[in-house]
Amino acid sequence: MAINRTPIHFTAYYEGEKHELQTYTYEYRSLMMLLFDKIYIDDFGECKGMGRCGTCAIKISGLSKAVHSLGRNEEQTLSKMGVHGGDIRLSCQILVDENLENSTVEIIGGESVE
Ligand code: FES
Repeated sequence: MAINRTPIHFTAYYEGEKHELQTYTYEYRSLMMLLFDKIYIDDFGECKGMGRCGTCAIKISGLSKAVHSLGRNEEQTLSKMGVHGGDIRLSCQILVDENLENSTVEIIGGESVE
C-alpha cells in the first residue's frame, strides 16, 4: 500500500510558544509520539501510549471531523483527571491523519494519574 505523504499542517502551543508543525498520515503511531518528537516536553507520555497516565493531555480544536470514539482507557483516565467530554483528549489516542489538518493543539500535560 502506498504511503500518502500529502503534508498535514497544524499548530501546537506549549508553554506559550507557538509551533507550526507538518507531518503526513501515519508518520507517527499517535499524536503523542509526534508531539514528543517534535517539541521537547517534560514528563510527557509517561505510559508510552497506554492511555493510563494522562500526561499526554491536550486541548484540540479545529479537527475536520469529530473524533468521537475514545480509545481504550481514555475515558477512565480523563475522568480521574476530572475531565468529562469536551475538547480535552489524550494525544496518545489520536491518530496522525488528515483530520489534523489546520487543527490547533494546546499541550496541557499534567500529573500522572497512574
Ligand atoms: S501516554 Fe499515557 S495516557 Fe497518553
